Amino acid sequence: MILVSGGAGFIGSNFVVDWLAHGNESVINLDKLTYAGNLQNLHSLNGDSRHIFVHGDIGDTTQVAALLKQYRPRAVLHFAAESHVDRSILGPAAFVETNVNGTFNLLEAVRCYWSALPDAERLAFRFLHVSTDEVYGTLGPDDAPFAETTPYAPNSPYSATKAASDHLVRAYHHTYGLPTLTTNCSNNYGPCHFPEKLIPLVIANARAGKALPIYGDGQQVRDWLYVGDHCAAIRRVLEQGAIGETYNVGGWNEMTNLSVVHELCDILDRLDPRQDGASYRIQIVYVADRPGHDRRYAIDARKIERELGWKPVETFESGIAKTVQWYLDHQDWVQNIQSGAYLSWVQQNYAQRAITEPTL
Ligand code: NAD
Ligand code: DAU
Repeated sequence: MILVSGGAGFIGSNFVVDWLAHGNESVINLDKLTYAGNLQNLHSLNGDSRHIFVHGDIGDTTQVAALLKQYRPRAVLHFAAESHVDRSILGPAAFVETNVNGTFNLLEAVRCYWSALPDAERLAFRFLHVSTDEVYGTLGPDDAPFAETTPYAPNSPYSATKAASDHLVRAYHHTYGLPTLTTNCSNNYGPCHFPEKLIPLVIANARAGKALPIYGDGQQVRDWLYVGDHCAAIRRVLEQGAIGETYNVGGWNEMTNLSVVHELCDILDRLDPRQDGASYRIQIVYVADRPGHDRRYAIDARKIERELGWKPVETFESGIAKTVQWYLDHQDWVQNIQSGAYLSWVQQNYAQRAITEPTL
């Protein structure tokens, strides 16, 4: 079996469901159930004995060591993190705690377990660390996309803590020989994406008749990857990746934030039009920018294609159409999240961002 950390979050839950749809190997799913963890994401696995959910913290070495001893996984896939850049700006401590200290504690428990395994199991074992393109910093409009050799230059507390975790993973391979694999991925989108992030926030706000907030001029560029493609890339890296290597994973879909929001409005105009017949674009507002906002991310995903034969299947058009439809079909999922805690986050993040200019 494998052990997944953070498997109740957006990408982790998609991964666990996909994993069990593609094979029969069981999953131990260790998740702290922070505000971002949601057991509803795993609803389709209710009653499936191949999925063992454990409520716990990656930083709790005693608990992790006991799990490793009990289940003897052949691999640990590390998704758990604090993941939202805006939250890292307003409260960085939790990011240091989970992304740096938590990863360190997890690595220590895994090292102890792995080093005591019999030879064959020790050789077959893998620790796969899921990281982000944000560790590479920001690009100018004409810069080459991030390659695995691009120097690290993280700009937010979130990306700094992810960079620190990447360095720890690298050091555990280099120093102790732990068989690690690292993936650095671009912006994911798809089902179960928590509605604090741009795409699900815009879908939820549009339907609720609320403002669609664009930070700054909306010309920041992100490279969007459908979450199902990311899950397939992780499976491929786990099975075929070379020990100690890093693989960049991207969607070859660079878009400005404004064009993403326009696309979402246009899809919603077709699938779920406003009652007054106007376009959802009238709900767009420009608000104060994110401090230290990275201007452009772009991933050069040629290494994983060349060496492991992976490339994304979805175009942005196909992936975003599926995603919007999923949100329309799962309004209860969004409503359940929009609890008091979610509302207080929205108040904290957006109240200080004065509206600068309405737009069509
Ligand atoms: P998420 O915030 O949706 O989910 C994170 C999950 O980790 C939650 O279920 C949460 O409960 C759990 N968690 C948090 N702290 C924990 C702890 N101390 N112990 C155990 N569980 C804990 O995040 P996501 O968007 O699914 O991202 C997953 C991983 O992928 C993260 O490492 C993130 O940095 C990385 N990543 C995300 C994206 C993206 O676009 N979302 C892109 C590149 C990389
Ligand atoms: O690049 C990978 C990263 O992508 C992951 O490592 C992070 O975990 C993930 O959260 C995501 O980070 P971003 O900051 O790029 O995602 P977010 O959805 O928060 O924002 C996307 C862009 O949209 C970014 O340029 C900020 C902008 N934005 C975001 C929000 C929430 C807005 O303009 N308005 C908003 O209200």
